[in-house]
Amino acid sequence: MTEKSQTVLITGASSGLGAALAIEYAGKNSVLYLNGRNAERLGEVADKCRLCGAKDVVTFSCDVTNRELIERWIEKCDSQNPIDICIANAGISGGTGEIEQNAFFAQAQRILDVNITGVMNTIKPAGTKMLARQSGHLIIISSLASFSPWPGAPAYAASKAAVRVFGEGLIPYLRKNNVYVSVVCPGFVESNMTAQNNFPMPFKWTSKKAAKKIIHDIKNKKKIIAFPIPLYVVIKMLSFLPLGLWWLISSGLPQKGGLRHQR
Ligand SMILES: NC(=O)c1ccc[n+]([C@@H]2O[C@H](COP(=O)([O-])OP(=O)(O)OC[C@H]3O[C@@H](n4cnc5c(N)ncnc54)[C@H](OP(=O)(O)O)[C@@H]3O)[C@@H](O)[C@H]2O)c1
Repeated sequence: MTEKSQTVLITGASSGLGAALAIEYAGKNSVLYLNGRNAERLGEVADKCRLCGAKDVVTFSCDVTNRELIERWIEKCDSQNPIDICIANAGISGGTGEIEQNAFFAQAQRILDVNITGVMNTIKPAGTKMLARQSGHLIIISSLASFSPWPGAPAYAASKAAVRVFGEGLIPYLRKNNVYVSVVCPGFVESNMTAQNNFPMPFKWTSKKAAKKIIHDIKNKKKIIAFPIPLYVVIKMLSFLPLGLWWLISSGLPQKGGLRHQR
């Protein structure tokens, strides 16, 4: 039996997890609204989605930190086809280096802007429309890194903790109004982001495998989508350690590189 066509909006769809989600939804005959900054890469993903069977694909290259543009775009998309699923996926990662280095503030600020403000800018207009018609599903892409203060990437971990807690906090109120929220906490997933990591990444999944898992759990209205389970269990257990012990263990972990590839 063919599934009912859905309208899905995804930010950060020009590569990695966002692109894989777009392609998986395309196979389900969906209408897709895709965002990213790089118009060329976004166009390539849109072409793949058309080939995979998407009903319609519309792209918009824009920085998610530009609240006005993102809001206007989401409202326009929603007026054309009411958005069933909105995935706030766009994100950047990187170490912030030592606090005394000049690059520290610029890098930390950029990570917090994209990963937190970008998510708010997406969720607010989509959620407002969904609330008005009392239907829809908001998805926030956080990370397993959100459960602990990682010395190698403190701004990234803080940004992912912020959006996880934000999403978890939204759940009860929106649920009363028939709008669902899912917070996604992936472990390591193959993407441009992880291609920069020069350290071992246990239990790394392909972006396709991660997208299939996320879509399956969205369909089942799962509130917290955390994977892979073995890494989730270890990270949750570590998060219960006294901070002093955590600092001792984590001080030896590798640093993430700077924002070289993120512009
Ligand atoms: N890969 C992992 O292991 C992992 C683990 C946990 C969570 N995550 C999260 O998963 C999400 C996707 O990351 P990924 O791994 O797929 O990395 P990726 O391949 O680097 O994809 C990031 C996406 O976000 C877009 N983006 C970045 N900054 C943007 C901005 N300011 N405005 C609009 N779009 C922007 C990028 O597009 P443009 O370059 O075209 O702008 C790209 O499409 C992120 O939120 C990340 O934190 C990833």
